[in-house]
Amino acid sequence: MRRLLILGSTGSIGVQALEVVSGRNDFEVVGLSADRNWEALIAQAEQHNVRRVAVADGESAAKAQSAWNGEVLTGPDSLAQLISEADADLVCNAIVGSAGLAATIVALSEGIDLALANKESLVVAGDLVIELAAARGAKLLPVDSEHSALHQLISSEDHQQPGTIERITLTASGGPFRGRSREDLAAVTVDEALNHPTWEMGGKISIDSATLMNKGLEVIEAHQLFGTDYSAIDVVVHPQSIVHAMITLSDGSSLAHLGYPDMRVPIAYALCWPDRIGVELERLNLAQVGALTFEAVDFLSFPCLRLALDAGRAGGTAPCILNAANEIAVAAFLDRRCSFLDIADIIETTLTALEVEQSYSFESLIACDREARSIATARVAALG
Ligand SMILES: NC(=O)c1ccc[n+]([C@@H]2O[C@H](COP(=O)([O-])OP(=O)(O)OC[C@H]3O[C@@H](n4cnc5c(N)ncnc54)[C@H](OP(=O)(O)O)[C@@H]3O)[C@@H](O)[C@H]2O)c1
Repeated sequence: MRRLLILGSTGSIGVQALEVVSGRNDFEVVGLSADRNWEALIAQAEQHNVRRVAVADGESAAKAQSAWNGEVLTGPDSLAQLISEADADLVCNAIVGSAGLAATIVALSEGIDLALANKESLVVAGDLVIELAAARGAKLLPVDSEHSALHQLISSEDHQQPGTIERITLTASGGPFRGRSREDLAAVTVDEALNHPTWEMGGKISIDSATLMNKGLEVIEAHQLFGTDYSAIDVVVHPQSIVHAMITLSDGSSLAHLGYPDMRVPIAYALCWPDRIGVELERLNLAQVGALTFEAVDFLSFPCLRLALDAGRAGGTAPCILNAANEIAVAAFLDRRCSFLDIADIIETTLTALEVEQSYSFESLIACDREARSIATARVAALG
């Protein structure tokens, strides 16, 4: 029996994580959390017999508490309290954005294994998060499909000499605007940007996929998780999203991980590792798929990927600045306060305005995140 705590349970990943464990007698869900979506959260708590939840937004928490007889935690320390008092074996962090970093830190500090969907934790504070996991003996299991694929591929070569894995490749669907020129992208709408061709996801990651920032965040995530140098990480566009990742070995072999795009597969892998469980979904039929195609990234139309790669290579606080500016820019685009092309402009302006510090702590990263948000917000206002 695994005691499982799901944070961000009302989002796309959270809902699918509950679906994976639903009806299984080897999992007990011991806590859930959301930001504002209290009605869905309480419905989940009732369905899964959960007695304690955390709601980040105070007003939503008050409504949840008056409608439900379980315990609703709120306030700045509520997630920490939920995590540290749940006696969980595994925390699934499916919160979106750098708001998920605190939960990652608390879970790992408590020595609890972490199924990590919140890639922003590794982008903002990757070195510190990896060190903390090692120091506390907690396992970090990636939920992102590409990193789940890499985790499986890389662990299959664990018995080999160091250096056997020469390169890793992440695939990118290319998003809804694949093949478009920069001029074509000037007037794209929020609805078009949200309409991802192969994955159904939350709003922020859908926009990140449309700008290819998501792939940039994933390259930083892969660098942190697997210790791979940036010079040995490739990105290739693969519109069918069937091949999730590939490793290239010293004997000239390449191993790839394949499957239909369905997040329940990497979620089940992260929640059950080192075991595998049955997941009811269509099995891959290559004859039916027909063709798998691959193409190079168009950095001119999608400058966000270049910005992320440069920030990753710069290291220090650069990825934290990149992430904060991106969160502000994406929120502004979703609110129709800036255009699609402005997103890269806002991020670049913020990265240029702030000096990168090579030595940092969790506390100084919080200050850096705040400063970057304020510069990015000013840039959004200046763009009108
Ligand atoms: N969706 C995917 O297919 C996918 C794939 C790979 C990786 N990921 C990663 O997984 C994470 C979650 O993505 P998602 O698509 O599931 O996002 P989502 O659908 O937007 O859900 C986000 C969840 O986080 C909660 N939340 C938002 N802001 C919060 C805050 N300030 N404090 C506490 N909780 C907060 C939301 O609560 P409310 O419902 O109340 O707003 C919701 O439960 C992201 O880091 C994303 O990059 C997602």
